[in-house]
Amino acid sequence: MTTHKAHCLILPFPGQGHINPMLQFSKRLQSKRVKITIALTKSFLKNMKELPTSMSIEAISDGYDDGGRDQAGSFVAYITRFKEIGSDTLSQLIEKLAKSGCHVNCIVYDPFLPWPVEVAKQFGLISAAFFTQNCVVDNIYYHVHKGVIKLPPTQNDEKIIIPGLSCTIESSDVPSFVINPEGERILEMLVNQFSNLDKVDWVLINSFYELEKEIIDWMSKIYPIKTIGPTIPSMYLDKRLHDDKEYGLSMFKPMTNECLNWLNHQPISSVVYVSFGSIAKLENEQMEELAWGLKNSNKSFLWVVRSTEEPKLPKNFIEELTSEKGLVVSWCPQLQVLEHESIGCFLTHCGWNSTLEAISLGVPMVAMPQWTDQPTNAKLVNDVWEIGVRAKQDEKGIVRREVIEECIKLVMEEDKGKLIRENAKKWKEIARNVVDERGSSDKNIEEFVSKLVTIS
Ligand code: UDX
Repeated sequence: MTTHKAHCLILPFPGQGHINPMLQFSKRLQSKRVKITIALTKSFLKNMKELPTSMSIEAISDGYDDGGRDQAGSFVAYITRFKEIGSDTLSQLIEKLAKSGCHVNCIVYDPFLPWPVEVAKQFGLISAAFFTQNCVVDNIYYHVHKGVIKLPPTQNDEKIIIPGLSCTIESSDVPSFVINPEGERILEMLVNQFSNLDKVDWVLINSFYELEKEIIDWMSKIYPIKTIGPTIPSMYLDKRLHDDKEYGLSMFKPMTNECLNWLNHQPISSVVYVSFGSIAKLENEQMEELAWGLKNSNKSFLWVVRSTEEPKLPKNFIEELTSEKGLVVSWCPQLQVLEHESIGCFLTHCGWNSTLEAISLGVPMVAMPQWTDQPTNAKLVNDVWEIGVRAKQDEKGIVRREVIEECIKLVMEEDKGKLIRENAKKWKEIARNVVDERGSSDKNIEEFVSKLVTIS
């Protein structure tokens, strides 16, 4: 029987892109003998196709137990009600666990929901805010929160200076909610992540020091920051965790055999893998341009088109697709795909998990950001890390087929893309080292666990 050093209650925001990194972080803690309980909303739990078997999962309420977020009408309404109902049910859960002899020592929460820190204080527990997005993005929201930078800029091409960031950015590079007036209420929620951050014991960031040194150094003067990423299963990186087979929590069922069988028949570095994550919805016109761009590139492609997006494909696109040319699936085992030797590039929306996964597996990218943090991630991919190229939109906001074709060729075969391909390999090595013994993220996780043990 394992004797646990401490017990962490993990409270993710209920969304695929938020749960994945917290789950992988939990596995790292578990390997250092920390007991883990994951608290998920009832509605989210109902929709899970896969659940981890090695951790305790408990249900809490967000006030929408039957219908989930869609029932709330708006994102902001959802967050507001979750705060009211969630605090009570989280407290009840902590009491229930204590009664059963499983005292909680620490709450690790997603600051999209800032209130768990108050619950932690009420029970005298350690609290850690877990930012699932990178430090540059967090830094931008921080400065909007502080009113240091006034956004949106008055002119579209105005350069924005972010303290702590050496390159200037333009309005097309900042998270969409900062620029888009419709996203105002969501921006309020995002900047609220910092509203009570001075009360937490730790700020954990799903990134690694080497990737964002200067901004991490800058933010560390304000908050007790620890980078703990990349939160990729150990089997793809340092291979130190033995019980690491399960993929995690998933809302979608991956078409694993179809994808891997097809990839096994493709030459090395020949395939474009295309995915826009779990939420992004493309305009019909964009979908059409993408379909033609892929076909015209003369590369084979594996394209994830979620079932809700499928009607937007050009007529007979799937029917006319030969198996040599491409495969369209509704969901894939993305890490297994990115790791496959046949993959030559990742055409991605630059969700932070996808970006970090591509970095960790050394896959160069064609960036087609859609919204939220994705434009900032694409900027970093293109200009700072130089591990991909950002496909330019036209004045209507559409990336045309010629641009897509050109970017794929640049990343996969042209001399101009050589540096990108080399840099991608370099970052893969660094990503593996940071989670390995004595790497920067491993040391941070060790320190976190030591503090838990001292205080518990
Ligand atoms: C959301 C936001 O859109 C993103 O910008 C933010 O950084 C995190 O939250 P999402 O759009 O789903 O996430 O994108 P991403 O962060 O890339 O996460 C998608 C996850 O789903 C990845 O872990 C990826 O491996 C996984 N995935 C995706 C699959 O397992 N199979 C697929 O077919 C596609």
